[in-house]
Amino acid sequence: MNTDRPVSTAPHLDMEHEIAELRAEIAHLRARLAQNPNRDTKDGEWPTEITYGQQMRSLTQFAGVSKDLDAIGRTSDHPKLPQPSREQAQLEADFIRWGYCLVADAMTSEQVDALVERLLDQAEAERTAGIAHVTHEGTTQFVPNLLPKGQIFRDLASLEENAAVGAPLVETLLRKILGEDFYLATAHGSIVQQGGGIQELHQDQGFVPLPHPPYPLYSLIIWGFSPFSLEEGATYLLPGSHRAPDGANLVHPDTDFKAFARGKLLALDMPPGSCAILDSRLLHSGGERTAPGKRLASRVLYCRGMMRQQENLIACADPILDQLSPKLKRLIGYYSYYSLGMIDGNRSDPAKPKVPIGELSMSRPEEFEQDFDFRHTEFARELAENEWNEWVDYRGPEQE
Ligand SMILES: [Fe+2]
Repeated sequence: MNTDRPVSTAPHLDMEHEIAELRAEIAHLRARLAQNPNRDTKDGEWPTEITYGQQMRSLTQFAGVSKDLDAIGRTSDHPKLPQPSREQAQLEADFIRWGYCLVADAMTSEQVDALVERLLDQAEAERTAGIAHVTHEGTTQFVPNLLPKGQIFRDLASLEENAAVGAPLVETLLRKILGEDFYLATAHGSIVQQGGGIQELHQDQGFVPLPHPPYPLYSLIIWGFSPFSLEEGATYLLPGSHRAPDGANLVHPDTDFKAFARGKLLALDMPPGSCAILDSRLLHSGGERTAPGKRLASRVLYCRGMMRQQENLIACADPILDQLSPKLKRLIGYYSYYSLGMIDGNRSDPAKPKVPIGELSMSRPEEFEQDFDFRHTEFARELAENEWNEWVDYRGPEQE
């Protein structure tokens, strides 16, 4: 008998009716508990140890899954899945239902040519200068931090129509996905050759502790400069893995991660000039290119405006940077958290560059010998350690 209950004026129940009422109450409480993902204690008991900082992340739960894949299908074999479209209503419906949508003719062929020309020139210059981010035994090149590497990349990242004719439509959708005043989180180029491109399966917000809120925190735009297909290199997707019809997330702490993903991935078919807009809860990975040639793309990630510190501490601390201890540099965000806070794709030891990597071109080889900070990073040393890697000129730790 709960003596804390207020005095009731309800008629007294006999034993049989009281048992029936208690059973109904238990069923109701069970239903409420089932809806509460944070049930970590019995009703009425409070935990005493703080565990908020120990919540699991999906990032590591899916590690290794993409190496253990059954046959990968193709999105084009499933007519219900998103097709490239310019109709906003269709794009919104696809995005909600499948966790991604495809914008048709997002770039003209002239815009694709201009973006590809700048990307390939920058990439070759970075390889020649010995400052390239090359992986997968030389078959995959990542061109990080596109903003200083060409006006056309700046225009693409800021969603200007002159860089991509479909950018205003993409921006309209991003405002609906992330709210007003979202931020640019990263912009990089991707070049994948035969044998390259495979990535671990992940969510783009996989570093966010679970459970996630019932909406995406990030949205990735994949600008396709060349065809995406199973053979030519494609993003592998698990369509519909972002949410259930009632809005509940499908990736949560109780998910059987490996069973959830295995055997269900499809290679994204997308013609050149399209772009894909992804919900950051959608499971996906880079896919291997098995055909000769190159798959070319740019990936531009945006995040909700609240995903940042209250003060812009890196800018505030800039004039007194040499007075900050490593601990304080970490506190203001100079070092990385998972893949957040990188500088030039470097998450090992990011630091304010004195000689940053900017726009480079094969037409200006005299700029290649600069003593870029990159050459002195732990990250460059790790890349250069690969015996196949001839595109990183590591010059040892920087002398203060
Ligand atoms: Fe991703």
